[in-house]
Amino acid sequence: MDKLLISGGACLEGELRASGAKNSAVTILAASLLANEPVTISNVPHLRDITTMIELLVSMGVEVVVDEKMNIEIHANTIKSFVAPYDLVRTMRASFLVLGPLLAHYGEAEVSLPGGCAIGPRPVDLHLRGLEALGAIIEMKEGYVKARVNGRLKGARFIFDVSTVGGTEHIMMAAALAEGTTVLENCAREPEIIDLADFLNAMGAKVSGQGTDTITIEGVESLGGCDHHVIADRVEAATYLIAAAATGGHVKMRDVIPEHLDVVTSKLRESGADVTIGEDWIDLDMRGRRPKAVSLVTAPYPGFPTDLQAQFLAMNTIAEGTATVKETIFENRFMHVHEMNRMGAQIRLEGNNTTAIVEGVDVLQAAPVMANDLRASVSLVIAALIADGDTVVNRIYHIDRGYEQVEEKLQNLGAKIKRIQSR
Ligand code: UD1
Repeated sequence: MDKLLISGGACLEGELRASGAKNSAVTILAASLLANEPVTISNVPHLRDITTMIELLVSMGVEVVVDEKMNIEIHANTIKSFVAPYDLVRTMRASFLVLGPLLAHYGEAEVSLPGGCAIGPRPVDLHLRGLEALGAIIEMKEGYVKARVNGRLKGARFIFDVSTVGGTEHIMMAAALAEGTTVLENCAREPEIIDLADFLNAMGAKVSGQGTDTITIEGVESLGGCDHHVIADRVEAATYLIAAAATGGHVKMRDVIPEHLDVVTSKLRESGADVTIGEDWIDLDMRGRRPKAVSLVTAPYPGFPTDLQAQFLAMNTIAEGTATVKETIFENRFMHVHEMNRMGAQIRLEGNNTTAIVEGVDVLQAAPVMANDLRASVSLVIAALIADGDTVVNRIYHIDRGYEQVEEKLQNLGAKIKRIQSR
């Protein structure tokens, strides 16, 4: 398994381009199963999660052509099997999202249940209840969801119990080919949901209200081909800005959508950074200063994203003052705390492990560390950048799932980082 060796102390400086959004791209790849004609998706990041999704489509007989720029052409009508096996769904939960499109387009699907993951149980009950509301007949058998429908799915009104990004996306996709109108309430409002709705509408769907908590989908009989450019990855872009703030550096992120990061830039300003925002760029200058402690509570969009909690925690370890970081989305999302404490951080968990109290220290010390989820792993890279000495971050396959060319991008900013490959 590959590792990263990072020598701490460098102040990150320079310019980077944000990649396409992983969370948008994986869902849009699943949604391509709804089309009767070829679709082309561009600005897709070169990541392991994307390769897993492509592997899944290919395993079902779908013809996928990828060019050297990661433009992906998908011919869904070559499909031969409607099964998503355990081995693929287990490695990436988002692959569960093929269930709704398969069911809506072909009337049947057999998809492995994703099971638990490193950040808690992460149920899919709302995905299944939403599909049932549209008329799906669902059975659980040997760890698989077997779904079928007599004729087409039927439009319905459905209210989500909690704000769920994947759940909202899943039912939106299925409803696109249903007979009649679907009204979804208490929907998640994340930008990736708007990107998915734009993709569906480009194929001929009639989705409106995306970005609000009520989404209306007038079902159509079939969907055609389209070209779609995936939005910028707000989590990736913010990760580099936080790393810049933590190291006292100066980084400009280009090709971003600044309004998607409003809450994050305001938290970065609270840390003492000078943040300048243009039409499609964000410039952060810390001028060599030590960051100030920043307290935060994670919440559904437009609140503070859970996917950036770990990175802010890393910055807080060496900040001036004490910060309170509260996680409200996932149950078990503080695994990185124990690793950071091994590097000399002063973090204690309270409230049944839902809140971290971080007392800033002057400096972290290098130590071998590892993490078992994507954002926790990258937060350890930030901790390593601000630590004294050489840190080895183990199990970086998690980072490769969601950060395109992480070491090249950090090297471009002046970080001393290298990949140690092992067989
Ligand atoms: C997506 C993102 C992930 C991000 C998360 C929250 C993708 C591929 N992943 O994950 O990076 O951290 O949104 O912003 O887009 N829940 C239920 N029942 C369900 C579904 C969800 O109770 O059927 C709960 C979850 O346990 C969690 C909360 O809803 O507590 C939010 O999860 P959700 O928004 O669904 O996360 P994902 O879509 O899996």
